[in-house]
Amino acid sequence: MVILTKAFASLQKLSKLGNEPLSFSLTASLFYPRYLHSILNAEWSVDLRHVLMIYETLKSCSCQTGLEIGAYYGTTTCAFVEAAERRPDFSVFVCDVVITDAVRNLVNQSPAVDQITIIECESARALQKLLDLRISIDIAFLDGSHVFYQNAIEAAFLQCLGARTLLLHDTRTQSSDQYGRNYLFDGPKKLLERFRSSPMWFVVEDSDMRCHEQTHRGLALVTRDREVWERTVAIFSELGSLPIADVRKAAGAPG
Ligand SMILES: C[S@@+](CC[C@H](N)C(=O)[O-])C[C@H]1O[C@@H](n2cnc3c(N)ncnc32)[C@H](O)[C@@H]1O
Repeated sequence: MVILTKAFASLQKLSKLGNEPLSFSLTASLFYPRYLHSILNAEWSVDLRHVLMIYETLKSCSCQTGLEIGAYYGTTTCAFVEAAERRPDFSVFVCDVVITDAVRNLVNQSPAVDQITIIECESARALQKLLDLRISIDIAFLDGSHVFYQNAIEAAFLQCLGARTLLLHDTRTQSSDQYGRNYLFDGPKKLLERFRSSPMWFVVEDSDMRCHEQTHRGLALVTRDREVWERTVAIFSELGSLPIADVRKAAGAPG
């Protein structure tokens, strides 16, 4: 009976969350020009709808430290930088084997520059460094290597660093015709399968096929915190159902 009451209460909470309008229109006007500046190769970068989902998740969770692995020209770094600007209590680490000038400028020109640390090296070395410095990571976004054994190493390190929430990109890429069935890209997909099979993790994924978007490549959030999951379900569902024109508007694109 107690279990049923709890289940009912959380269902009620979830449907309430689902009905509450989220605050996408509050997104800073800087967001869109930054995004345009960093999307130099759309094939490799995360597209706007998913970047906004990442941003809203970072903005709304109570995480104090975030790590991005795989910055490239900074498309997803925009979400981390923007969240740091919104939340003075949020520290960000940006890791890539090569930090491009686009990412360096994005960080250095941000008013939140003091909250953001760039780590230019391979992810396992960066994670070891964080561990040595006893820095904990609450939330991490993985979009560096897409090779399973490397992603598994990243996930193991992140567990040691205390991460309770991970965002994975390209969770469906390996099965998409666009990229073929390439084992080199199967890391995020396999990692997500592992999380799905564990009762300790809640999972939400957006991988809808949308015209002129790359969202079918898949963005997933896995978390041990039910509240983070509930909020993200609402964020993914609301942003997921917007027409692209409204997504652009929410990101501050000129009409
Ligand atoms: C798909 S791109 C990331 C795209 C980026 N998130 C965006 O939305 O624009 C992959 C990036 O990961 C980096 N990378 C690949 N393997 C890595 C590793 N083991 N550690 C750190 N970065 C890695 C690459 O240099 C590249 O910049």
